[in-house]
Amino acid sequence: MKSMDRRTFVGATASVVVSGAVFSACASLASVPVTPVNGRVQLALSDYPALAQPGGSLKISTSESAAPLFVIRHEGDEFVTVSSLCTHQGCSVRAEAGTLACPCHGSTFDFRGVVLRGPAERPLERFPTRVTSNNVLEIELGGSG
Ligand code: FES
Repeated sequence: MKSMDRRTFVGATASVVVSGAVFSACASLASVPVTPVNGRVQLALSDYPALAQPGGSLKISTSESAAPLFVIRHEGDEFVTVSSLCTHQGCSVRAEAGTLACPCHGSTFDFRGVVLRGPAERPLERFPTRVTSNNVLEIELGGSG
């Protein structure tokens, strides 16, 4: 078996680390396409187990929003929907370690879209979200939630 010098070992290790990072980024890019009706998205909660527990989240894309949206369940029946567009310069934020993090310049937001770390100064755009009596999540795409 051929021995590996330090440079070869470091290069091989870096490849594995980079592959892992790419895999994580791809997983973060996956979003569920949904079709809005009259500017409103309706999701039957029973169809989305990712939203069954507090802390659960779902990334959706619609033809009526400029970028995918993160739907996040908080305690109880509180749901928050925020745009994935970073308010600094428009990169797409990713769900990472309990935050929404921007890969471009390092801004981070909490799961309500509030800025935790700049350079972004404004919160992520929010969309009014509520649960109807028949367990359907309604998201208004007009914004300002
Ligand atoms: Fe997100 Fe700059 S675009 S931090």
